[in-house]
Amino acid sequence: MNDLQGKHLVLGLTGGIACYKAAELCRAFIKEGATVQVVMTEAAEQFITPVTMQALSGRPVYTSQWDVREPNNMPHIHLSREADAIVIAPCSADFLARLVHGRADELLSLMCLARPIERVPLLIAPAMNREMWAHPATQRNMAQLASDGATILGVGSGFQACGETGDGRMLEPAELLEDIVAFLQPKALAGKRVVVTAGPTFEALDPIRGITNHSSGKMGFAIARAAREAGADVTLVAGPVHLATPRGVARVDVKSARQMMEATLAAVPRADVFIATAAVADWRPTSESGQKIKKDGTGQAPMVAFTENPDILATVARSERAQRRELFCVGFAAESHDLLAHARAKRERKGIPLLAGNIGPLTFGQDDNQLLLVDEQGAQELPRAPKLQLARTLVAEIARRLPRT
Ligand code: CTP
Repeated sequence: MNDLQGKHLVLGLTGGIACYKAAELCRAFIKEGATVQVVMTEAAEQFITPVTMQALSGRPVYTSQWDVREPNNMPHIHLSREADAIVIAPCSADFLARLVHGRADELLSLMCLARPIERVPLLIAPAMNREMWAHPATQRNMAQLASDGATILGVGSGFQACGETGDGRMLEPAELLEDIVAFLQPKALAGKRVVVTAGPTFEALDPIRGITNHSSGKMGFAIARAAREAGADVTLVAGPVHLATPRGVARVDVKSARQMMEATLAAVPRADVFIATAAVADWRPTSESGQKIKKDGTGQAPMVAFTENPDILATVARSERAQRRELFCVGFAAESHDLLAHARAKRERKGIPLLAGNIGPLTFGQDDNQLLLVDEQGAQELPRAPKLQLARTLVAEIARRLPRT
């Protein structure tokens, strides 16, 4: 999946040890299908060579406003006009200050000043020592830059090259990539609150064993990420899975269906959309043994009684806000056959406006999936694609169905 296909990015490097991470970031942009034009300040050249950045981007690097390659000697104009976004990574404390003052005595700040401000977004990945980061001057500069229309991508925290520990490290290339991809997605859910359940549940039998299922959580996590990319405030209620939390998403980890129910009911009263992707166990052992259940030597297996778990989706769908369509509920159905008939019946049974059906064995643990969307009007197939791509389409379909505000 090429998340930056067709995009042209200008990657600006300023003086800081984090320049070594800019090499990987450049590569990540290229791998995602973007074209990248690197522009470096003189200070950046102290940390990494233009040769490295040229090799990774496949284009000669610009370092000076006096570059003779330009027929009219105006690289600051044409470089900024071509870009879908300008990303400064790393952005030093000095360069932040330069941007705030609209300085224009070297190519990178000149180009930022000359960019068409409405059309070419400026994204900043600061990188500096923790004291420099915490200094009121830097914080003031950042607030000013944000109010001048730049997007500050934030910083990481931890061990710094100077030997100190704290805030101010540049975000990792993978984090920056995720943030920049998100930034460039359409904002169909701006200002909306979304709650997603994901993964399996685990119903304990004793302290050692329990009942669970093969759900990997990938589809739910992809939906949470896509909703966040679309501008929503997202809460992800996750069963036991080993997946990284999508950036900017609030995650609540749970184990059992009852815990998932509790966390969901705490989050939905403020939500506009609820998407139930979790493969919730239908039953739990009626009693959980406090100690490991041991073999008793008779060869007889213990009898286990089961109790039905609460249906989270159906409970939320019955709430007043859902009935009034202030809370838009989306369900999932994993079937093995007759998908359309089962999906239609399940949508009606759960009393929800939209249901996404899939064939269980074709989705569990896979990176790809295909969906059948069923609503009042009928059914629509979303052909096989990576889960994140399907999630983005699903999010757009949900946004289209929300009441206009
Ligand atoms: N769901 C839920 N709480 C449950 C069970 C299911 O929220 N206790 C949600 C799932 O997250 C999914 C949908 O309901 O969105 C699936 O419905 P369900 O009837 O449980 O599906 P199956 O278990 O596949 O049903 P069936 O027994 O009919 O195959």
